[in-house]
Amino acid sequence: MIKFIDTEEVLPIRKEVLRPGKLTLDECRFPTDKLPGAFHLGLYLRGELVSIASFHPQNYGVYTGEGLQLRGMATIEEYRGRGLGNQLLNFAIVYIRGQKVNYLWCNARKTALQFYLNMGFEQISPEFEVRGIGPHYVLYIKIS
Ligand SMILES: CC(C)(COP(=O)(O)OP(=O)(O)OC[C@H]1O[C@@H](n2cnc3c(N)ncnc32)[C@H](O)[C@@H]1OP(=O)(O)O)[C@@H](O)C(=O)NCCC(=O)NCCS
Repeated sequence: MIKFIDTEEVLPIRKEVLRPGKLTLDECRFPTDKLPGAFHLGLYLRGELVSIASFHPQNYGVYTGEGLQLRGMATIEEYRGRGLGNQLLNFAIVYIRGQKVNYLWCNARKTALQFYLNMGFEQISPEFEVRGIGPHYVLYIKIS
């Protein structure tokens, strides 16, 4: 089951998956979580939250129209590689297609590049380094 969830609910997986051993739960909040129009989606298996993604209005570069940035995409380790992240992001894309959104973009870790390419995202930047995390690319997908 996929549903809209609160910021509080995404924090434990952000802490465990995205910043392992580095941050407190409270430090796993993104300033963008508070932006008007920000939302989070969670995929539950047998009542357990296993995959999360967060979105907020944010334009990127030269693209016209309304942009949405994806942040904090994560599946807990033991559930990876089963298509759950793909299901969650597909749900998000179908939902935002019904909103006034023209494109979705994200700063993606190099290790997750193939996951996003499989979803239909395009790489739109050269590789860049995010300090403490590693190499990234900007990825883009047109919505409407
Ligand atoms: C990136 C991430 C969110 C993907 O989540 P996921 O639930 O594992 O995603 P999926 O299972 O849909 O896809 C992952 C891989 O499993 C494969 N897969 C998809 N469905 C599958 C299935 N039914 N059975 C087996 N493998 C499958 C996909 O082909 C994909 O392979 P690839 O990415 O190597 O090409 C997850 O790996 C993660 O949390 N990583 C750590 C945090 C991170 O890097 N987040 C992204 C920040 S930009």
